[in-house]
Amino acid sequence: MKISSAEYKTRRQKFLAQLPKNAIAILPTAPERHKTADSYYDYHPDNSFYYLTGYDEPNCVAVFMPGRTEGEFLLFNMLKIREQEIWTGFRVGQEAAVSEYGANQAFPMTEFDQMLPELLTGRESLYFALGRNPEYDQKIILALNELRGRVRSGVAVPDTIINVEKIIFEMRLIKTEAEIDLLRTAGQISVGAHKKIMKICKPGMNEFHIAAEIMYELLNGGCQSTAYGSIVAGGENGIVLHYQANNAELKSGDLLLVDAGGEYQFYDADITTTFPVNGKFSTEQKLIYDLVLKAQHAAFSKIKPGIAWWTLQETILQVFAEGLLALGILQGSVEKILEDKSYFKFYMHNSGHWLGLDTHDVGAYKVNGEWRKLAKGMVFTVEPGLYLSKDIPGLDPKWHDIAVRIEDDVVVTESGYDILTKGLPRTTDEIEAFMKG
Ligand code: GLY
Ligand code: MN
Ligand code: MN
Repeated sequence: MKISSAEYKTRRQKFLAQLPKNAIAILPTAPERHKTADSYYDYHPDNSFYYLTGYDEPNCVAVFMPGRTEGEFLLFNMLKIREQEIWTGFRVGQEAAVSEYGANQAFPMTEFDQMLPELLTGRESLYFALGRNPEYDQKIILALNELRGRVRSGVAVPDTIINVEKIIFEMRLIKTEAEIDLLRTAGQISVGAHKKIMKICKPGMNEFHIAAEIMYELLNGGCQSTAYGSIVAGGENGIVLHYQANNAELKSGDLLLVDAGGEYQFYDADITTTFPVNGKFSTEQKLIYDLVLKAQHAAFSKIKPGIAWWTLQETILQVFAEGLLALGILQGSVEKILEDKSYFKFYMHNSGHWLGLDTHDVGAYKVNGEWRKLAKGMVFTVEPGLYLSKDIPGLDPKWHDIAVRIEDDVVVTESGYDILTKGLPRTTDEIEAFMKG
């Protein structure tokens, strides 16, 4: 399963159709990042560049020029040099950039700086994401300056720079069937990893044993990497929303909160499971877990095209306000709790986020000052959580350091939603039975 070259072509056509006739768009991929003088971090292309090209080599840039007779899509990429390929692997080269990747013309990257002023000439607006890639900011500035020096000879220079990401981010927000398939695959491999750790978790293990098992399951399932640094947080570590140390011993009686997902063909999964280290929830842990699960289900039940993004957070807040009041953790009335935001010390994040090539994917949450309305093909997480830190003044010690987050990935369908991360034991009964079995 792979996104077809026809789909990339359709994306580029949609993108080009949104550019004014006399525009030029320049999209460099991400730079390679040095780890040491002679080693690099794993390479990851720029997601918007990748979205339009399907091209994952470093050192390249895509140029789009609507209406250009010699072709509207130019790719500058690495030369195919046998001696280099021996060290760092296969390179596509210019010929295959045209035949396999649909470029109308391909040039060696080394020619980009020299050709840039010429490409900008006669174009009225430049679509470019300033500030993303300092090396390219510099190239653009140099080329524009060079052209400005030539205006007396009648050379036209782009006089506006527009953020190209505005167009691409909106496109990326609505996923195609092929993208949803990849997101579902990422989700299902990640579900397998979470199930595996629920099965093997025992008091006395370390958080890093769990993190290692997740990594193994994700890579063994075909993911290229984790989508983000796994959060494996036993007991009070679960209070830290982005806990990364993953090096504490797991204790009987504690909960384990695991937020981890894989990246599959660059598409991400983002799942959180929370379960008891010893396989059995305490009464208080169960009460909090049930409340978080109830909030998640309440949010799910609202999902369909046309509802506002913020409805999900409002729904979760309503369930939490009622539940925390019923448990005696908060006092007063539901209205007052919501008005004063007194839930905030226990629940301080949003209902979730768009999900796609980025884990926190792109696309505006508000449009013209109004919350975005959900539409078919949008993919996002639903991840309510309650974090009952012992440092919260006045909190009864019986609740101390219970941290629960439950996170799944959903896609909006024609009439509702579908969960991409189906198949996990989710109720406390299901979790206890699964961990025992
Ligand atoms: N794993 C990051 C998040 O849940 O948003
Ligand atoms: Mn998330
Ligand atoms: Mn997460």
